[in-house]
Amino acid sequence: MAEPVTLRAITDHNRSAVLGLRVAAGQEGVVDGVARSLRDAAEHPELAPWPRAVYAGERPVGFVMLADGVAEGNSDVPWPFYLWRMLIDGRFQGRGHGRAALDAVVAHLRSRPGARELVTSVVPGEGSPLGFYLRYGFADTGKMFDHERVPRLAL
Ligand SMILES: CC(C)(COP(=O)(O)OP(=O)(O)OC[C@H]1O[C@@H](n2cnc3c(N)ncnc32)[C@H](O)[C@@H]1OP(=O)(O)O)[C@@H](O)C(=O)NCCC(=O)NCCS
Repeated sequence: MAEPVTLRAITDHNRSAVLGLRVAAGQEGVVDGVARSLRDAAEHPELAPWPRAVYAGERPVGFVMLADGVAEGNSDVPWPFYLWRMLIDGRFQGRGHGRAALDAVVAHLRSRPGARELVTSVVPGEGSPLGFYLRYGFADTGKMFDHERVPRLAL
């Protein structure tokens, strides 16, 4: 049976392992890494960052970060709940961990009052993860945000 996938807080205990996660060669252009994401989180408390390590069993395999309750009128992120970053380390891709991590994100959001949709934005073109989100059930809104496509999942 597949190992259960969980989302865990980043602490002194796991930070260096999580910082060591890398996408596969050639994928660096589609997502910023963990270190940059944690810096962005520290610099933007107004975006209510919710960074989490993705674990398969007891092994860190990826990273997700939500903007988890953005106040209306924010000009950087115009949605209350935004999947800001997501990556599965290249060594562990293609095993269902990305889908399971999204399941855990959705379960978290369903506990958040007023969460009706999850929006993300993806680099289009070669190597784009757009297909991954569409396969999960996101719909392509056809809109662009910062030159990225905007998939949306109703919760
Ligand atoms: C995109 C990513 C998160 C997917 O994680 P993963 O663990 O490899 O995906 P899964 O194994 O859970 O795949 C789930 C399904 O999506 C499909 N899928 C995965 N990546 C895909 C892609 N880039 N395009 C189209 N479909 C994709 C899989 O084939 C699988 O389909 P199935 O249900 O028919 O089996 C991961 O590949 C990744 O980190 N990529 C690089 C960084 C990135 O693009 N991050 C997202 C930034 S917005």
